[in-house]
Amino acid sequence: MSTPPVAPSMGRRAAPTPAVAPCDAPAPIPFHRTVIEDDAIAAITATLRSGWLTSGPRARELEAGLAELLGRRHAVALNSATSALFLACKAAGVGPGDEVLVPAITFMATAEVALHLGARPVIVDVDDATLLIDPVDLERKLTRRARLIAPVHFAGQPCAMRQLRSLAAAERLAIVEDAAHCLTGSAAGDEAAPGADRWRPGDGTLAAALSFYATKELPIGEGGALVSDDDGVIERARRWSLHGISRPAHARMQVGARATYDVEDVGYKMNLPDVLATLGVAQLPRMAAHRARRAALAARYDAALADVPGIRPLPTRPGFASAHHLYVVRVDPAAAGLDRDQLAAQLGARGIGTSVHFTPLHEMTALKSLLGTRSADCPVAARAGREVLSLPLHPALTDADCDRVSRELRLIVAEHAP
Ligand SMILES: Cc1ncc(COP(=O)(O)O)c(C=O)c1O
Repeated sequence: MSTPPVAPSMGRRAAPTPAVAPCDAPAPIPFHRTVIEDDAIAAITATLRSGWLTSGPRARELEAGLAELLGRRHAVALNSATSALFLACKAAGVGPGDEVLVPAITFMATAEVALHLGARPVIVDVDDATLLIDPVDLERKLTRRARLIAPVHFAGQPCAMRQLRSLAAAERLAIVEDAAHCLTGSAAGDEAAPGADRWRPGDGTLAAALSFYATKELPIGEGGALVSDDDGVIERARRWSLHGISRPAHARMQVGARATYDVEDVGYKMNLPDVLATLGVAQLPRMAAHRARRAALAARYDAALADVPGIRPLPTRPGFASAHHLYVVRVDPAAAGLDRDQLAAQLGARGIGTSVHFTPLHEMTALKSLLGTRSADCPVAARAGREVLSLPLHPALTDADCDRVSRELRLIVAEHAP
């Protein structure tokens, strides 16, 4: 057996022993951790061995599962919620000269799709309690150019859809829901469209966009879907998602199948490959249990943080079942003795990861310069944007981790509160 090569001494002194954390230092609690179970990994292996990697039977299976989960007629699996929003807005006919009303507290995707279609996003303020789109400010900002409302079920809590649907109907506007945070959220029957016993995303609207991004409820890395009860929307979205071609590859490549296809429309490349769809299919049956786990953790945080000065968790309204995608608190610096960024830094120093959802759209550099927005356009969102802090919330978070986050947060505030 040969001896392993020994690095020649360069005459340097031995490197100092690296600092080692004391063995009783608690492990960090990251903001998010995705756990993929063995059966999902086995399912991916099977797809990898199947000989078919891109969109095919697994993507179709995911679509059927999503449509069933949400009680919708159809779903189209796509490469992101952004693509779903884009295709739904395009199917609604959004184009140059139109305005698309979006809430200020959301991710850029909700607004950017309007810009890519040549339309103008109009940024609407949010309700101070829920951070959901404010129907009063929405009505105030409606013009003759308004074409579509894109409400966001922020943090998993559904918007008041009955009110939004009647407003949209009166103004002849389409609604495309940004349900990136709300796959498992629902609402009582009085929010539902006629005929449905409970409201779920896509109910009574043109369509809803879902996200399967790495930190979302159905994490597959990157992916999304459009769900809708409208045959025409789905048919066009499906065609546009794959270059506008008439027959997808999986149909053409069966032995003996006709190989030719037509391009019926100019489309895009937004399809979801089977490798990723497999991960979605495997995790679908766990979604209800994962939601229940997040709901229990959210209730645990609520109880632990109820009397911490200057810390106000986002409430869930009666009649609305949140998907509990995020656990968001507002930090009032006057009462807590430190601001959101200082609190996040202190939690970070104690090994706890946090995030911010969201800096409001109207304060983003690109939109300020494109649309000329100012903070005062959406004052409620502007303030919320400085105060919101998202704490770790995911199915793999233990009760002990949740308690540690609450305890450290309480201790930090106790050290600073006036
Ligand atoms: C509210 C909201 N809408 C849309 C998106 C875009 O989702 P995707 O990354 O799947 O395109 C996100 C992603 O974080 C989001 O938070």
